[in-house]
Amino acid sequence: MLQTALHFSHTLLREIVQPADQVIDATMGNGNDTAFLAELVGKLGKVYAFDVQAAAIQNTEKRLQENQLSEQALLFHQGHETIAEIISPETPIKAAVFNLGYLPKSDKEIITMPDTTRTAIEAILERLVVKGRIILVVYYGHEGGEQELTMVKNFCKALPQRQFNVLSYQFVNQANQPPILYCIEKK
Ligand SMILES: C[S@@+](CC[C@H](N)C(=O)[O-])C[C@H]1O[C@@H](n2cnc3c(N)ncnc32)[C@H](O)[C@@H]1O
Repeated sequence: MLQTALHFSHTLLREIVQPADQVIDATMGNGNDTAFLAELVGKLGKVYAFDVQAAAIQNTEKRLQENQLSEQALLFHQGHETIAEIISPETPIKAAVFNLGYLPKSDKEIITMPDTTRTAIEAILERLVVKGRIILVVYYGHEGGEQELTMVKNFCKALPQRQFNVLSYQFVNQANQPPILYCIEKK
């Protein structure tokens, strides 16, 4: 069976993330990706995770504790647009993941936004190592979602081919606007 965009995002991360790597979960939510990445980087690695909702930090902290993964994650209750303030330009980032949209079963008004998403992607690109990947899973069925999808698509298309491989992955015959995945790989 073909993988969903969410499942494929983990496949793309698992292919490259190694023990002791430093990685970013730009949209922590309930911590699915933070916990997944924390397992991959192990005790010598670090996951920098961001979210603007206090509940996201609480839920993720709990999840990490339950799985003995707290040591390898740093949780920031602030937007991913502040990545450049937290992570020095010399930090080698191996991978980053974004799940864009709103957190299911929570406040649908709190959504990721094109400008702040773009700021975060640009900051990560400056820190991304060769063969590193940024993965964006874009949910766009909600109000404002199309604008963010357009920004991500245009941003990805404009990246120079000599420096980056860029992939998009989507099901083209599914109802209800399934998410679209983009993967930016630094050559
Ligand atoms: C689709 S959910 C992420 C789901 C998450 N990956 C998980 O495993 O549960 C999007 C998340 O982005 C968060 N968010 C919105 N604006 C943000 C920003 N500027 N910086 C970081 N996170 C933001 C929302 O609060 C929400 O939790």
